[in-house]
Amino acid sequence: MNQTSGKNALLTGATGGIGPHIARLLAANGINLVLSGRRADRLRDLSADLRSESVRIETATADLTRMGELKDLADNAVSALGRIDILINNAGLEEVVPYQRQAPDQIQATVLTNVMAPLLLTRILLPAMLARSDGHIISIASIAGRLAMPFGSAYSGTKAALSEWSLSLWMELQGTGVKVTTICPGFVTGAGMFARKGRDAPGSLGSCTPEQVAEAVVKALHSNKPEILVNSMPVRPLMALKSISPVAAARLGDKMGLVAFLRSLTKRPDDANHN
Ligand SMILES: NC(=O)c1ccc[n+]([C@@H]2O[C@H](COP(=O)([O-])OP(=O)(O)OC[C@H]3O[C@@H](n4cnc5c(N)ncnc54)[C@H](OP(=O)(O)O)[C@@H]3O)[C@@H](O)[C@H]2O)c1
Repeated sequence: MNQTSGKNALLTGATGGIGPHIARLLAANGINLVLSGRRADRLRDLSADLRSESVRIETATADLTRMGELKDLADNAVSALGRIDILINNAGLEEVVPYQRQAPDQIQATVLTNVMAPLLLTRILLPAMLARSDGHIISIASIAGRLAMPFGSAYSGTKAALSEWSLSLWMELQGTGVKVTTICPGFVTGAGMFARKGRDAPGSLGSCTPEQVAEAVVKALHSNKPEILVNSMPVRPLMALKSISPVAAARLGDKMGLVAFLRSLTKRPDDANHN
């Protein structure tokens, strides 16, 4: 039996994209799950899919933009499995659009889903983890939170906030038995918000698979790493350069095709630079 077998996890964003891949791998590692998302039918299908694994699978619908539903989600998860040892903040919202065209409601939903929900769910579940000196908060952020993402500024800003919050908490909780990890994938192919755009990322920017993201989650559970990057290409040097010179990093990112590629993903690429 491995050291995570028999643990209980709450996974948000389980209904589509990368979430089901994380769910499958955690279940295969003997972790009991509460699967969450807004789409009850998807939760039902996934839990039926995972029935053959010898773990408990429960579901709990919640809209993470409704702050009142967060406490209910955490309470339902705890009552379903008795305790939650691992929180995986995976749900996320992204839109590639010139900022001046992004609807205020969409900006608000992005902040609530990508930042407020993970912070508040953690705040609700953390005291019991600390009382047991055992727990793990894993948040799926993004390379977009480490390297700026033009035409996805609200997304990039929220993922940067999530990453810095997570690293701060990792430092704060050293020695308590509660671990904190951010997983930062690059463009994910095969499933999820980027794959749905139906485009390949330029080779220079790299990509990864949903399976690799799920493997990073399992790797996180067996370590005390504050951050795991999941991307095949040279984003680390770009990040290092950004810390020395954001302008030089932006220019290099531009040369690598980042700006042109993201502009091409906006709904009206031709006028992405205009008011
Ligand atoms: N795909 C990529 O290329 C990529 C790259 C880097 C990082 N990431 C991050 O990886 C995570 C998963 O991304 P993905 O590609 O799997 O996204 P996705 O396919 O769009 O799925 C998003 C998940 O979040 C849930 N969700 C969204 N808004 C919600 C809300 N208001 N309340 C409750 N649940 C909500 C969705 O469930 P319902 O619709 O059922 O509510 C769905 O399960 C995200 O945090 C994303 O930022 C993705």
